[in-house]
Amino acid sequence: MSSSVVGTMTMVPFTSSSASACLLPLTSKPSKHGRRRLSCKAMASSGDDDDSYRIDRRDVLLGLTAATTGSTLGRARGLLAAEGVKQPMPITSEVLKCVSAGDFVCPAGSTDYDDATVVNFSDLPAPTGPPRVRRPAHLLSAQEVEKLELALQRMKELPDDDPRSFKNQAAIHEAYCDGKYNVVARSPGEPDATKFDVHFSSIFAPWHRMYIYFFEGILGELVGDPAFGLPYWNWDAPAGMMLPAAFTNPDSPLYDANRKPENERGAFIDLSLSPKVKSDPNKFKDDLLGLIDSNLCAMYRQMNVKEPVDFHGGYPSRTTKPPVGSLETGAHTAAHIWVGEHMGNLKTAARDPVFYSNHSNVDRMWHLWSTKLGNHEDLTNDQWLNTNFVFYDETKRPVRIAVRDVLDAEKQLGYTYEEKKSLEWMERRIKPAAIKIDDRTRDAKDNSSLPLVLKKGRMEYLPVERPKKDGTKTDEVLVVDVTLDPCEQVKFDVLVNVPRGEEDKVGPQNSQFAGSFSTVPHGGTMTGSATTKPVVSCRFKLQELIQDLNCNRSKMLNITLVPVEGDKTIVDNLRVELC
Ligand code: C2O
Repeated sequence: MSSSVVGTMTMVPFTSSSASACLLPLTSKPSKHGRRRLSCKAMASSGDDDDSYRIDRRDVLLGLTAATTGSTLGRARGLLAAEGVKQPMPITSEVLKCVSAGDFVCPAGSTDYDDATVVNFSDLPAPTGPPRVRRPAHLLSAQEVEKLELALQRMKELPDDDPRSFKNQAAIHEAYCDGKYNVVARSPGEPDATKFDVHFSSIFAPWHRMYIYFFEGILGELVGDPAFGLPYWNWDAPAGMMLPAAFTNPDSPLYDANRKPENERGAFIDLSLSPKVKSDPNKFKDDLLGLIDSNLCAMYRQMNVKEPVDFHGGYPSRTTKPPVGSLETGAHTAAHIWVGEHMGNLKTAARDPVFYSNHSNVDRMWHLWSTKLGNHEDLTNDQWLNTNFVFYDETKRPVRIAVRDVLDAEKQLGYTYEEKKSLEWMERRIKPAAIKIDDRTRDAKDNSSLPLVLKKGRMEYLPVERPKKDGTKTDEVLVVDVTLDPCEQVKFDVLVNVPRGEEDKVGPQNSQFAGSFSTVPHGGTMTGSATTKPVVSCRFKLQELIQDLNCNRSKMLNITLVPVEGDKTIVDNLRVELC
């Protein structure tokens, strides 16, 4: 690993991918109970080059929620062979339609703008002058807090028919994140009305970048400051690991009463949603350094990702459930869940003002990853680059903006992030916990307990056999097949060779910690019919873990599943595969 100096920051670019966070590169396979069987392909697949994403336009339009059973991948590949490989159609504003339903009202202007009035972002002049600066929220001066409050207050006071009002801004997130947008047919014969979601795919990072960019512009306009920068919640740095004080004053427009009260004041965020914090918050509070260290390791794991598809996720399609990127499943999800209540559900999350500063930091992580952390290249396929949406800008003008318009925050969007000299998590390295390694061979028949239901707080001990190496494939991956309830918040950790009773001595900072799986629940409309619960194969890379724990000779690995949230996840199967 070589060190390089970029700007004012001394950076060690990540050159190897050792993150074992649970990414979900999923492909569809028929399953026994007619449930959707989604299994991970190799984490190392490059996503945009993967055949499974090069599906026919009709397949894209057929659906994004993959709520059907059985695989059409073979058919899609057949079509490709027959028609020659062609670029699949991207999701664009022309095929998206917001539908009000029940108590949900589509945000003002989302369905009735006149296409002729829409401005293309790419036709607007490029930003000039020094970039707007987004600062850490915990470092804002009293004046900066006042300005932010005033801007948000004014946004909250805008009338309901103004697309810039806070109510409408929050509804935009609900619409795009809770199945209120349908993908509609563009020509007769194409199927209609499949639900669209900007989460769990490579659309996550660019969509949220666009969304908060316009949000920031509106706030600036409302206080007459075109240089206004949306502060970021700096949860990746020890000094920023609390809810920023500006958001905790009950008299402020930045406050939301719908949060977990225990995390409001003085509590440190737990970016890995560790079971230790749950089971004994007071004890763990004393070990503040331990919590900070665990957070920094969680950051290191999420950012030490080289392949764009592992960082961003894959493109949504009908036939495959895309991989979810580490940017989304890592600290981002933890921050939603840790703040809780409104933030803890994708339907209501954007009603809490801290949502926008959470996403400012998520966006900063993307910015760092694609610049200072080694200039990683983003996905390059046209399908992703041409994906576009319409947002209202600060002058109430509808603007069509594409992924290719937002890849460079400074040059294309005119903002940047204030950074300290160094990032604490860059220096983290994962080490074995100082405990005995339990590599005794257990009876693999213990696995006859599968399938089993994970219950919060009840650990499951499952030995797995390691496969014989077959020459070409040498890397081992632990595959855990689970059936989820999408309405439920889920989190479980996976530990390897940890003796019973010693689990709380192991965290993300340790090699014995293979990774975690977590999701933010949806409001409910994305769940489809009760009989089609998503089945997910979650993969945890084992190679470095096996080396670190020096257990290359053991025939078995002793797996401990530690359920932290949720009582409905079914573990269907668990095995080690070679890849
Ligand atoms: Cu659209 Cu953090 O969620």
